[in-house]
Amino acid sequence: MCGIVGCILKDNKKVAPILLNCISKLEYRGYDSVGIATIDDKINIKKDKGEINQVNKKLNLADMEGNLGIAHVRWATHGDPNKTNSHPQFDENKTVAVVHNGIIENYLDIKTQLEKEGHKFISQTDTEVIPHLIEKYMDKGLDLEDSLRETINIIEGSYAIAAISVNEPDKIVATRKDSPLIVGIGDNGYYVASDSPAILEYANNIIYPDENELVILNSSEIIIKDKNDNIIDKEIQTLDWTPEMAEKEGYDYFMIKEINEQSKAIQNTLTEKINIKKIIDDIDDINRICFVACGTSYHASLTGKYLIESFAGISTDVILASEFKYFANTLDDKTLVIFISQSGETADTLKALDKANETSKTLGIVNVAGSAVTRKADYVIHTQAGPEIGVAATKTYLSQLTAIYIFAGLLSSNNSLLEKIDRVPEFIDEVLLDVNSIIEMSKKYKFVNDFFFIGRGYSYPIALEGALKLKEITYIHGEGYAAGELKHGPLALIDEGIPVVVINPPGDDHKKTMNNLKEVKARGADVLAVGSSSDKMLIEEADDVFTINPEVDQVIAPLVYIIPLQILAYYVAIERGLNPDKPKNLAKCVTVE
Ligand code: G6P
Repeated sequence: MCGIVGCILKDNKKVAPILLNCISKLEYRGYDSVGIATIDDKINIKKDKGEINQVNKKLNLADMEGNLGIAHVRWATHGDPNKTNSHPQFDENKTVAVVHNGIIENYLDIKTQLEKEGHKFISQTDTEVIPHLIEKYMDKGLDLEDSLRETINIIEGSYAIAAISVNEPDKIVATRKDSPLIVGIGDNGYYVASDSPAILEYANNIIYPDENELVILNSSEIIIKDKNDNIIDKEIQTLDWTPEMAEKEGYDYFMIKEINEQSKAIQNTLTEKINIKKIIDDIDDINRICFVACGTSYHASLTGKYLIESFAGISTDVILASEFKYFANTLDDKTLVIFISQSGETADTLKALDKANETSKTLGIVNVAGSAVTRKADYVIHTQAGPEIGVAATKTYLSQLTAIYIFAGLLSSNNSLLEKIDRVPEFIDEVLLDVNSIIEMSKKYKFVNDFFFIGRGYSYPIALEGALKLKEITYIHGEGYAAGELKHGPLALIDEGIPVVVINPPGDDHKKTMNNLKEVKARGADVLAVGSSSDKMLIEEADDVFTINPEVDQVIAPLVYIIPLQILAYYVAIERGLNPDKPKNLAKCVTVE
C-alpha cells in the first residue's frame, strides 16, 4: 500500500540508481505509478503512471543527478493513477518534495485554507498538502525539520513521510504515524523505507522509529528526535534476512518460488516451539481465545478455532479485524486475543490491537520482525517464512498455520498433534514433486467464469483460502462454502460445467462430503477433487483428481491440501496471461482502513 524510500549517500555518487533498485523491491506495495526526486542545485523529479519497468523505459529513472533523494510506488487512494497524482508531490515552486504512504484525513480542510492563502494545487491527492505546509513554514523561517514537525501537528490520519527541500540540500527528514517506516544504516549511506526488502542489499542494521518521532538523515549521521525536539537514543537491530531471500532466484515469479519454499518455511517456524511454550506457561489463566485478522491470515485463524476448540476445549472466536470494534465489549482480562498478520502492519489489525490492549492479553503471530504488531502485542510468535514478495500470501500462510498448530498442541499437551506437524514438511515436498496434473487442469479451467470450493470442518477454511487465491490472481469469481451449506442456497448456482473443487481428506467428514460431491455432480458440475491416493470412491466419482500421498488426515489437511489449490490458482493466472505477483487493485501490506 504505497512504498517509500529515502537515501543519502556518504560520498558524492549518484543516488538515483540505488533509489530505483530499492523502490523496485517495494513494488508489492503498489504498482499504479512510480516516482523519484533527487537534489543537486535544484529538485529533479521523474515520475509517471505505470509499473516501474514501463516508466523506467520511458524516463530512465536512474539518470538523475544528486547524492540524496526520495522514491515512491503508489497504490492509489485519492486521485486516479496518473502522472500528476504520482509521488513525489511538491509545492508550486518545487522547493519541497515529499513521498507519503497513508491517508491524510483532513486534507480537504487544509487544502481550502492553503488555497485561501494563495497556494495552488495541481493534483487530486491528499498528499499534496504536505509539501505546501512544509513550504509555508519554511517561508516563515523554520528549517525543514521544524517545518515537518509543525506539519504533523496539523495533519490527521496515517502517514510515513520523507521530505527534501532545495533550501537544505543535504538532508532528508522523515516521520511516521500508523504507517510503517524503518531507518537503515548502511556502509555507503543512510536510508528510510517502508519495509526492509527495499534496503536489504545496502543496510541490515535497522532502527524502528516510534509514532511522530522525527528522523533526520544527513551524509554523516542519523538523528532521531521526539516531538519536543529531544534527541533519542534508539536501539539498533540487525536483520537476519539476506538480499537473496528477496530475489526470484531463477523462478518466473515470486509466488511460485514462495510456494516451493513452504516446507522450509514450516521447518523454520517449528523452531518457535520453545518460545510458544514459554508464552503458554505465562498466560495460564485464560478462559477464552479470540483471533483477529484479515484476508489469508483470517483463514489461518479459522483453522485455529477448529484446533483450539477441539483439542484444548477453550471457547474461541474469529473476528475480521475491520469488524472488531463491534465485538470488543465482550473482552476481559481472561481473554487472549491473537492477532495474525504476515506484514504486522495491516491498519485494520493494528486498530483492533490497540483496542484489545485496553482489556486483554494480546499475542501477535507475525512474519516481519520489528513491525507494528510485534511492538504493540504483549507476546509475539515470529513465523519464520522469510520475506514474502508475491501479493497473494502462500508461505506465510503455512507458517501461520504451523505456529497455530504448535500453539494448540502445546496448549492441550497433545503430543500426537505435535508429532504430526513435525512430518508436514516431508508431506509438502512429496506433493510438490509432481504437480503436472494440476498444470494440465489449469489449461482446462482457464476460461471459466465461476469456481466453487467446498469442504467440511478443517477443510472449510481450505475451501475459503483456495477460493481467495483463485480470485486474487486470476480474477475468476471463486467462492468457498462449507459443504453442508450448499443445500441452503449455493446449490442454486450449480449448473452444467460449473467447476466445483471438493476438498475431501480421510476422516469423519469424508462420507458426508462424498454425498455433497454427488449432489453437485448430479446437477452437472465439473468436479475437481483433492483427496487421498487410496480413496477409490473419490477418484471414481470426480472428473479430475489431485491425490495426496502419503495419507494426511483431515486435522493436518489444512497444511497440505492447500498446496494444489495455490498451484491451480498460479497456473490459471499464467494461462490467462496475468502476472500473479501483482494482482490488480491489491497490495501486500494494507496500511489504510
Ligand atoms: C492484503 C494482502 C493479503 C493478506 C491481507 C492481510 O489484503 O493482499 O495477502 O492476507 O492483506 O495481511 P496481513 O499482513 O495482516 O496478514
